[in-house]
Amino acid sequence: MLNNIIKMENIEKWYGKVHALKGVDFSVSEGEVVGLIGENGAGKSSLIKIISGLFPPDKGKIYWEGREVTIDSVKKARELGIETVHQGGLTINYMSVADNIFLAREIKKNVGPLKIIDKVKQNEKAIQLTSELGLKIDSPEKEVRLCSGGEKQGVAIARALYYKSKLLILDEPTEGIAPSGQKNILDFVRKIKEKNLSCIFSTPDVYIASPVVDRYVIIAQGKIIGEINNIATLDLEEIEEMMILKRKLVESES
Ligand SMILES: Nc1ncnc2c1ncn2[C@@H]1O[C@H](COP(=O)(O)OP(=O)(O)OP(=O)(O)O)[C@@H](O)[C@H]1O
Ligand SMILES: [Mg+2]
Repeated sequence: MLNNIIKMENIEKWYGKVHALKGVDFSVSEGEVVGLIGENGAGKSSLIKIISGLFPPDKGKIYWEGREVTIDSVKKARELGIETVHQGGLTINYMSVADNIFLAREIKKNVGPLKIIDKVKQNEKAIQLTSELGLKIDSPEKEVRLCSGGEKQGVAIARALYYKSKLLILDEPTEGIAPSGQKNILDFVRKIKEKNLSCIFSTPDVYIASPVVDRYVIIAQGKIIGEINNIATLDLEEIEEMMILKRKLVESES
């Protein structure tokens, strides 16, 4: 039995009157890739933002490596080893690829009494990291706004890998990405797996994540409605039906 890296119990989240998470239990084991599957508005990003320290849950407990924790900031999440590639990227467009990777954690060198950013080292390391991910970015000094959507995701993932995060969260990483870029993203996830790191891969599309996912957790209307542990018996159509059926049930209730 693998250990949980993160375990969340009875998580509730309200946005004013919107009840976005309704008592969610969710966990990820060491070295496991969990597919967090749900339709638009199901609550995937809300759960991910709580894990990433963007805001706390209104109720519920979070355990990290078996100990109860309060993730009250992005800094705290990072200290624990959680790195998130948020939906739509979150790279800073007018900064270079290298500056984005090392943002807030720059490589420094001593020049006399001063500590200054070591741009040469950062650039070298950025080239190494992005090429390890199979990205062919012409220069680490290229501004991120000139990169493709897939390259931007890669920059965010390079950042996560560099900090040796234990849990990498990808919130809809394939959204708006062409098929070739999607393949790159799946390859990134395979690399994460090779390093025995954990990953949450959120998407409304069960088919996209299936080559890399170890277990599916299905969320609908703020509730976990099913889990599929045995990938060997996986029926993707069944998962899709579960998602749609749940929507119909909730619609008929309201
Ligand atoms: N800042 C906010 N204020 C008010 N309601 C919000 C806010 N963010 C999300 N919601 C609502 O909370 C619910 C869950 O949204 P969430 O973004 O977590 O869903 P999601 O599964 O990530 O959807 P998508 O696939 O479209 O990204 C939705 O009903 C959404 O409209
Ligand atoms: Mg979302």
